[in-house]
Amino acid sequence: MIISGLEVSWKIKEEIIIEIQHLKKRSIYPCLSTILVGDNPASAIYVRNKHRACSEVGIKTKDNTINSSIEEKKLIELIKTLNEDESVHGILLQLPLPTHINQFNVINAIAPQKDIDGLTYYNAGLLLNKQPSFIPCTPLGVMELLKYYNVDLKGKDAIIINRSILVGKPLSLLLLDNDATVMICHSNTHNLQDKIRNSDIIITAVGNRKFFTLTADFVRKDAVVIDIGISRVNGKVIGDVDYENVSKKVSLITPVPGGVGPMTIAMLLKNTVLAASRL
Ligand SMILES: NC(=O)c1ccc[n+]([C@@H]2O[C@H](COP(=O)([O-])OP(=O)(O)OC[C@H]3O[C@@H](n4cnc5c(N)ncnc54)[C@H](OP(=O)(O)O)[C@@H]3O)[C@@H](O)[C@H]2O)c1
Repeated sequence: MIISGLEVSWKIKEEIIIEIQHLKKRSIYPCLSTILVGDNPASAIYVRNKHRACSEVGIKTKDNTINSSIEEKKLIELIKTLNEDESVHGILLQLPLPTHINQFNVINAIAPQKDIDGLTYYNAGLLLNKQPSFIPCTPLGVMELLKYYNVDLKGKDAIIINRSILVGKPLSLLLLDNDATVMICHSNTHNLQDKIRNSDIIITAVGNRKFFTLTADFVRKDAVVIDIGISRVNGKVIGDVDYENVSKKVSLITPVPGGVGPMTIAMLLKNTVLAASRL
């Protein structure tokens, strides 16, 4: 069975539209301010898609596209201005940043109540302590998909192939808090194939098909496979999974595109509306 992120994200967007109508009756007009530093073409596309999704549901956007030579201090000043701007409810800092900027300093300049990506130390700490406020959008989107398709997590062995602060680490906490037993793997993990083969739920986010492809011989029959990875091969967007063969063996699987991607965007909209509704 295919897990359709497109279908689930549309249902969530319909709920968001209704929520925004209620907010507008209270004269609250949800607004997302994006910050894009430099001219990385992939980042520019991601930001454009986020603006488009906001306008589809009625969230206002403010675009801050900045030259890559900006000093860290100036970037932090911009964030502080947005923190104080009452018309802005969410701040999205598109990553990665140029290498001369310390991304942790800049992320943590965002006011926690506007940190709709859930990446500040404050929001990451709340999640760690089982008191989540804003949860990073991709892990949150994965959890919504698992819930929508009634995947029972209790006592299941889940493996995550990724240890980033954006994906693997927050996702591991969410799965753990839902009673799964979680293993986090990375580029130095030994016997990765055996570990994957022993797992009920496999979540992969490597994004480099040259070094890693999840093939059918890696997976247990009837496993659940969530593919977060994004690679571009001959101009085509693909995930980490050999979808054609793996899909014949497992019980549930996300396609790429049309799986986790639309859910990440839907969660960004949801978190922005949540930030606005807390006023
Ligand atoms: N669909 C979406 O909405 C969405 C959202 C976010 C991210 N993504 C995609 O997800 C992927 C990961 O994103 P990210 O920001 O988390 O990137 P990242 O920080 O580069 O994470 C990649 C992870 O893969 C691990 N890895 C690399 N080669 C491996 C190998 N041969 N075997 C096992 N693990 C390996 C890395 O291990 P080390 O830590 O040891 O380097 C790292 O933990 C990218 O393709 C990104 O585009 C998609």
